[in-house]
Amino acid sequence: MVSNDPREIIPVADPAELAKAAAERLLARIAANSGRVAICLTGGSSPKALYELLATESYRARIPWERVHWFIGDERFVPPDDARNNMAMARHVFLDRFAPSSHIHPIPTDLGSPDEASALYEDELKSFYGATPLDPMRPLFDLVLLGVGPDGHTASLFPGYPQVEEQRRWVVGVPQTHVEPFVPRVSLTLPALASCHEMLFEVSGTGKRAVLTRLLSGETLPAARARSIGTTVFLVDKAALPENFCGG
Ligand code: 6PG
Repeated sequence: MVSNDPREIIPVADPAELAKAAAERLLARIAANSGRVAICLTGGSSPKALYELLATESYRARIPWERVHWFIGDERFVPPDDARNNMAMARHVFLDRFAPSSHIHPIPTDLGSPDEASALYEDELKSFYGATPLDPMRPLFDLVLLGVGPDGHTASLFPGYPQVEEQRRWVVGVPQTHVEPFVPRVSLTLPALASCHEMLFEVSGTGKRAVLTRLLSGETLPAARARSIGTTVFLVDKAALPENFCGG
């Protein structure tokens, strides 16, 4: 790991412990804000256990649903009821059962193009935030959840793609991808993702060890460039932890 790295790496035993640790951090972020809370969820398979945990009685009861709003950091451009749709998974597992529907903010994928959807979602984020540009003293999100792809992508910001360099837009269309599912995407940009009190990566499984080693040794992959203006935390299970890792 590079020295003076501001990212906090928290090792956990396994995926179940990882989900628990993520749930506790999410609840702590909600508790730290007595007003309207904004959580930016993520897709992929890693967050599913967390979402399932949030649906259990002991966690569900600790969430003040009437003041929490739920966004998504990136979306596959497939219909809202497609199993590959990131928000559909979160809705199915927990949101639709507990969150007021006006507090669920999906990226629209049922009309137009990824570019049109990105413009609509940017408008929605701006109207929720109530201002432009983003003010570092007033982050857009309380918590941004993210995962890491085996190629070092995060959200739908892929290595070498121009969308990674976007500094002005909050949301962009990504017409094609080189990882599964091979469908167009819509993604929040690095500046929009950065506007949070805490950015929380969930990384688990041996399949992530190689890319995590690259990320922690200073390679400038998108998942390494995604940093919160507040705190950036990686929850990593034992299987994904680089062999030479020696502390947080
Ligand atoms: C997506 C994601 C993507 C994901 C990583 C990790 O739409 O696929 O948002 O960035 O978080 O690819 O995915 P896993 O959790 O499945 O490993």
